[in-house]
Amino acid sequence: MKNNIILIGFMGVGKGTLSRALAKKTGMIALDTDDMIESMENEKIKTIFKKHGEKYFRNRENQVALWASKNVNNAIISTGGGFPIYAEDIQKMGKVFYLKTSFDGILKKMLHAPNSKKKLKKRPLFKNPESAKKLFNSRLETYEKKADYVIEVENKTTDEIAEIILKEMAKK
Ligand code: S3P
Repeated sequence: MKNNIILIGFMGVGKGTLSRALAKKTGMIALDTDDMIESMENEKIKTIFKKHGEKYFRNRENQVALWASKNVNNAIISTGGGFPIYAEDIQKMGKVFYLKTSFDGILKKMLHAPNSKKKLKKRPLFKNPESAKKLFNSRLETYEKKADYVIEVENKTTDEIAEIILKEMAKK
């Protein structure tokens, strides 16, 4: 079994922030599936969606999942919000932690962040709260199903969530 920490959850839940905090705490390397795809394509996610379409992006996600499950160990991998929906066998990549929150929790974070405009602009599937909420609801079941651990993150600090994950990782 791979020793990676895999972070899944909806857009804006804080996977990247948590991943970097975990990296700092542990000295592990933090990888991000969106970053890897941007490097592979030498283009931003937004442009990849626009130029090649969502299906192309999802194929890249699958490629990253396969590569990571074969080649990556001892890392923290934060994933795009759709990654666990489209990529097969993400449990082969490592221990999967689902950062669970309500849609209101997501909205609060996305709309009230100081860099809110930038956060929304780079996410082609977060066009408006209504469509994002539909997407959110359609994914809940799969997130739960693909997770080894579900962490309710609302009202928890990044540090608290990191400690929960590290405790779980230390158990095995
Ligand atoms: C997506 C989430 C994004 C990014 C892409 C598609 C999704 O990642 O992968 O815009 O389908 O939910 P974040 O969850 O980091 O925003």
